Amino acid sequence: MHHEPKKSSLSSAAAQNGVLFGTAVCSSDLLSQPITRAILGNCSIITPEYELKWDAVCRVQENLEYSAADQLISFAADNALAVHGHTLWWHEAVPQGLQMTSDKQFREAALNHLTSTAARYAGQLHSWDVVNESLELDHGRRDGLRETRFLAAFGPDYIEIAFREAALLDPNAILVLNEMGLEYDSPAAEGKRRQMLALLEREKARGTPIACLGVQSHLTALEQPRDHPDFRRFLREVRAMGLSVMITEMDVSDHLCPRDRKQRDAIVAETYRSYLELVLAEADVLAVSTWGLSDGRTWLNGFRPRLDGAPQRPLLFDRAARRKQAWHGVRDALLSGRQTGSELSGLRIGTD
Ligand code: XIL
Repeated sequence: MHHEPKKSSLSSAAAQNGVLFGTAVCSSDLLSQPITRAILGNCSIITPEYELKWDAVCRVQENLEYSAADQLISFAADNALAVHGHTLWWHEAVPQGLQMTSDKQFREAALNHLTSTAARYAGQLHSWDVVNESLELDHGRRDGLRETRFLAAFGPDYIEIAFREAALLDPNAILVLNEMGLEYDSPAAEGKRRQMLALLEREKARGTPIACLGVQSHLTALEQPRDHPDFRRFLREVRAMGLSVMITEMDVSDHLCPRDRKQRDAIVAETYRSYLELVLAEADVLAVSTWGLSDGRTWLNGFRPRLDGAPQRPLLFDRAARRKQAWHGVRDALLSGRQTGSELSGLRIGTD
């Protein structure tokens, strides 16, 4: 497979600051030569978009099916790509057959899935989203935790339980608490940032082995501010706690943008550039991943459809896997980002 020359590669731009660049990949992406070429030419880490989720692995009651995940992990190994595991416990990926079980049965199934999956891939993954989207302030709890089956069955200790089990089974994986909406500019988002800091402090105090905060970064063009003092402060507080950050699912919805393609692409590109420059300046970033590479396959056409019905253009490559302005916006930010963490530690080795 022909690799793009390294000079025009996001992974080599990222490596200048000791950062991995990657994207979410699903099995069907590998059937497309242009997409596969764009992955190999730009990425040093990939995230299975579906294949490692509980409801993908556990299709029929109890029997765990890993062949799709294995295919992606073999592809990564064959091409010297790291793999970010997504995600062990997430309320939106509970297998259908387990929705109505007793708490005891749910606990057993959830622990069985986590231990079987973490053990199966031990030593093969760069990192894991051990728990995903644990906060939901609208649920009214003082601790801000989302009311999920995991919370109901295990109690608030479910986060500690998950991370301790994962650390036991895969001591080399970087264990990530992944969250959405921490990057938005609203009173609700500021409340969520405060609750996340309190949660991280509580978990740290009880010795929960969380090494890294995952910031999903599903941004909206024309809503995401160019500068963002509250978010800067939050990232600095996360770094002060000794935690690194991964940008885990970055994309820029253009559903508020004018229809004109040139205008949309320019606004999306600038949103990526300014956001990423801010994060790289304030956090010890391990990896930056977009949620897909090409506009030809983005979850946003379902999640955030444009009112005019035009397909979204949220990613770095167009439907024909050609680089867009957003690719240059990300590349410029990756080259300019000051990495405080890696400079200080000097320990991280760039991938190239
Ligand atoms: C999304 C997928 O991209 C969609 O195709 C699927 O229908 C739902 O899940 N936060 C996450 C991801 O952590 O797992 C979600 O991925 C997007 C939001």
